[in-house]
Amino acid sequence: MKALITGISGQDGSYLTEYLLSLDYEVHGIVRRHSVAENQSARLEKFSDKIAGLHYGDLLDVHSLYDIINKVKPDEIYNLAAMSQVRISSDIPSFTIKTNSLGVLNMLEITSKLCPEAKFYQASSSEMFGNSVDEDGFQRLTTPMNPVSPYGCSKVLGYNLVRHYRHGYNMLACNGILFNHESPRRGTNFVTNKVVKNAVLIKKNKLNKLEMGNMDSSRDWGHSSDYVRAMHKIINHSDPDDWIVATGKSYTVRQMCEYVFGRLDLNYEDFVVQNPKYMRPEELKYLCGDSEKTRKILNWKPNYTFELMLEEMIEYWMGKT
Ligand code: GDD
Repeated sequence: MKALITGISGQDGSYLTEYLLSLDYEVHGIVRRHSVAENQSARLEKFSDKIAGLHYGDLLDVHSLYDIINKVKPDEIYNLAAMSQVRISSDIPSFTIKTNSLGVLNMLEITSKLCPEAKFYQASSSEMFGNSVDEDGFQRLTTPMNPVSPYGCSKVLGYNLVRHYRHGYNMLACNGILFNHESPRRGTNFVTNKVVKNAVLIKKNKLNKLEMGNMDSSRDWGHSSDYVRAMHKIINHSDPDDWIVATGKSYTVRQMCEYVFGRLDLNYEDFVVQNPKYMRPEELKYLCGDSEKTRKILNWKPNYTFELMLEEMIEYWMGKT
């Protein structure tokens, strides 16, 4: 089997590559040119010799997408590439909408012309729900989508395009609506890795304060390596569909800080200060996903707990800093 992954150099791209290689896939990926070449594929370093091809391209460059898809003729396409930082999406809204919405359209159009039999996975996001929550405290496929950021808006369009190409053109296109998922490979401008890295620096007396945004928002945090297994099950299910991937447990940013600093025998209140720079124009307050359908039909469940995931991240930064 041949897989093509856009966004292969990101957190999820790297875990998915490792997973597909372990299943004997021929893995190809699309990377964007970066001025520091080493940064381009740093997360892939340990297994880069096993990757069949890393191709330069961009979701907005239809010529590159056409050439790559034509050359690789993949059986499975995982569209993970995106401008994925929610707060930054307010600074670069136009780029975000183009990449995350028009980029999906480009991928679907070219796939439908060059390899209509290929299975297509779209990285959809719980950010699409915005502040909608069902009465029982969960978000699910039927929960209204009321996004509160350019990022969320862009992902709603991508999600709907995938459904349209599935229903209108019989494409084997599916959406995984993934709730937050983390790991030591997470970018350090996302909240979990920012907190863990800086708490460890504080523990080692290399830093004396941590500037944060909203401490009261709540997230359903899972581990990226669990979630890429779900992606593979989703794309290979007999009926292309939309799926929720979540742990079903939600913690506030404050509780996460308390846990991480506590594990290092520190009190977060002694070090955390608020900086308006990290606040968002409109905050998504609470996420908690109902993934019952995914668990039942796809026989998926996460291996990591919230605590185990943070332990792994703490251990990583203790060794690295
Ligand atoms: N990044 C960041 N930095 N977030 C902070 C900070 C800070 O200093 N202080 C508080 N937060 C809060 C944010 O306001 C948000 O409520 C929460 O921490 C999580 O922020 P992020 O880790 O940046 O993730 P996100 O929830 O905005 O988005 C992630 O999850 C989505 C799925 O729901 C990203 O991975 C998206 O790409 C993904 O789609």
